[in-house]
Formats: sequence, structure tokens, C-alpha cells
Amino acid sequence: MEAKSCFVWAVMGMITCCVTVDGELQAGFYNTSCPYLEDIVYDGMQQAIGRDARMAASILRLFFHDCLVQGCDASVLLDDTPSFQGEKNAGPNANSLRGFEVIDEIKSNVEDACPGTVSCADILALAARDGVSLSGGPRWEVGGGRRDARSGSLEEANRVIPGPFLQVDKLLPRFQALGFTTQDVVTLSGAHTFGQARCLFVHNRLYNMTGDGKPDTTLNKYYLRVLQGQCPDQSGGGGENTLVMLDPYSPNDFDNRYYFNLMYGRGLFSSDQTLYSTTSSPTVQLVRAYAQNSRLFFSDFSSVMVKLANLHPLTGSQGEIRHNCHFIN
Ligand code: HEM
Ligand SMILES: *[C@@H]1O[C@H](CO)[C@@H](O)[C@H](O)[C@H]1NC(C)=O
Ligand SMILES: *[C@@H]1O[C@H](CO)[C@@H](O)[C@H](O)[C@H]1NC(C)=O
Repeated sequence: MEAKSCFVWAVMGMITCCVTVDGELQAGFYNTSCPYLEDIVYDGMQQAIGRDARMAASILRLFFHDCLVQGCDASVLLDDTPSFQGEKNAGPNANSLRGFEVIDEIKSNVEDACPGTVSCADILALAARDGVSLSGGPRWEVGGGRRDARSGSLEEANRVIPGPFLQVDKLLPRFQALGFTTQDVVTLSGAHTFGQARCLFVHNRLYNMTGDGKPDTTLNKYYLRVLQGQCPDQSGGGGENTLVMLDPYSPNDFDNRYYFNLMYGRGLFSSDQTLYSTTSSPTVQLVRAYAQNSRLFFSDFSSVMVKLANLHPLTGSQGEIRHNCHFIN
């Protein structure tokens, strides 16, 4: 199928609206087949966030990890079975991804309203969008018509999803291979403006960055002491799974505070901090621009999320509409 061009424009710098992306996904896809779909997803996310404010971040990450592996096809939602190893136990996902029960709840309400019609992949794309806007972030249009994969790939999840120890020079090529520009990487990383992470991903920066028993010198001195208090030395035993905030100033808000943090040595992961601390990197100027201009960040984030949401979807008669997001039909 031939790809049509993508028309993206910013309305008042806040709302990005996208019509006919990729020639396959379609705005208004469920207009007649499931007219209340967007309301059902929105209500589900509002309730979930009311119970647990972190859920918006968790669902956004779930969506990111879905799209990176085989495209946005709900492959990440498949459970392991005796004959199938899914993505849930991949290194970046195991004991880490959360929010599956929120997608289940929304899916069940959608099935009640319009049985057998809406894919788990489209529900996840809408839920991620609504979580961001309900947390104070921008809102973008999500085209419909994705279909659910009949398989997943543990191997691809382990190979493709980037890890937090990567420095910017290694991070950029990883994303480039997936079609994302340098600017896209800086914009996408802004998702670390909310949510939480486990201490095990920062222990090296706090205690032994280069093998000389010293912390990462790019860490702000005060932030270092705070994090050392929250994440005691692992040689003391345990604590790897203790949670810290990705943005301690506004942990549940989707805002541009993340970039401000980076400029003050308060990025949590190496993959975050090196976007700014690697002074020769083209990412430095972009971090500054987003720290100074939240409207610019919101409008670019909307565009890059549309790009992410359109990574190799299954459409037409490919895949299926799963009845239960955990299993193929
Ligand atoms: C740039 C490369 C990235 C790396 C290396 C990375 C790595 C990580 C890691 C290690 C965690 C903590 C997981 C845990 O403690 O179990 C995390 C959390 C998170 N990531 Fe990323 N990530 C990246 C990009 C992204 C992108 C593109 C998004 C979304 C668009 C995203 C959204 C999130 C969110 C929202 C959380 C918090 C989740 C929660 O609280 O449940 N990340 N990330
Ligand atoms: C779906 O409904 C919206 C709002 O009523 C309308 O603007 C849009 O053109 C419709 N799209 C399709 C494909 O029917
Ligand atoms: C730091 O890491 C190096 C290399 O992994 C190791 O040899 C050394 O014992 C560690 N030092 C401390 C203080 O943990």
C-alpha cells in the first residue's frame, strides 16, 4: 500500500492534530462501529489515574515497549503459554511493566459496548495519549485501525529496547535504526518527566561509575546525596527494587521539568543525563530549547508520539481483533 503524506499542525502550540497518517491508520476509524470508544478509554484512564497517579506514566511506557517491538500491535500484552514465550519476561519488561489490568478493564468495557470490534493495540494507543493529557501534557489525535499481533518476540524485545546505562553516543544510533532522529530522541526522553524507576538502574552512578569506587561526576552533588539516601549501596544488600521518582519536583505531572533537571545535573539515568552533559552532543541545544519553551516541547512531543504510534501497524486483514488482550484468539 502506498504511503500518503502526514499532515501535522499545531493548534495554539498545544494540540496537534493528525489526519490520515501513513495512509493506513485512519482518524474516525471507529466513528460508526464504536462511536463511544474514545469516551470509554478516557473514563477508564481517568479512573485508573484517580486510584494511582503513576498509572499514566506506566501506560505510556507500556505503549512505548509495545511499539518498539514489531510495531504497535499489542504484542507486549501477550502472556506466555506452554508453547509461546512472549515479551513480558524480556529483560526491560520483567518486574517492570505495569498497567496490564487497566488495559483489561478498558478492553472489557469496550467489548461490552462494541464486541469484537476494537483492537487491544488501538486501546493501548488511546490510553497512552489520554494518560499524558490527564497528567497535564498535550493531546494528539490517534488514528485507528491497528490490528493485534498473533505473536510476539522476546528476542526482539531484548535486542531493541534501549537500557538506561547507554550514553548518548550509543543511544542515538539505536533509535536511528528505528527511524527516529536526534531531535526525536530528545523529545521522546521527555517522557521521563513522570513515573518511577528502580534503584538498580542508578546504583552504578551513585557508587561506582567507572570502576574506581566514585560516583558519576555529572550528578548534582545535592541530588547525589538524596539518591544515595533513597538507594543505599547495593553491597549493603537488597534495595534494588526500591522506587525513586524520575522527576522529584513534579513526579506525576507531564511537564517540561525533565529538561530543566538535566541542565542542573538531576537526570536519573545515564541515558537522560548524557543528553545534556556530553557537551559535544547535538542534543545539548535541544535540551535547552525544551527547558525554556514548554509549548515547543508539547507540540514536538505530540508529533513524535504520532510517529511512534504509527510504527509498522498491522492493518486490513492482517493480525486479528483479540477478544482477550492476554491471548491470541
Ligand atoms: C531513551 C531511552 C530510554 C531508556 C534507556 C529508558 C529506560 C527506562 C527505565 C530503565 C525505566 C525504569 C524501569 C524500572 O525501574 O523498572 C523507565 C521508566 C519509564 N520510562 Fe523510559 N526509557 C527510555 C525511553 C522512554 C520513552 C521513549 C518513553 C515513552 C515515550 C519512556 C517512558 C517511561 C516512563 C513513563 C517511565 C516510568 C514508568 C512507571 O512509572 O511505571 N521511556 N525507562
Ligand atoms: C468521524 O467523526 C468526526 C467527528 O464527527 C468527523 O470530523 C470525521 O470526519 C469522521 N471521520 C470519518 C472517517 O468518518
Ligand atoms: C567498583 O567496580 C570495580 C569494577 O567493577 C570493582 O573492581 C571495584 O571493587 C568496585 N569498587 C567498589 C568500591 O565497589
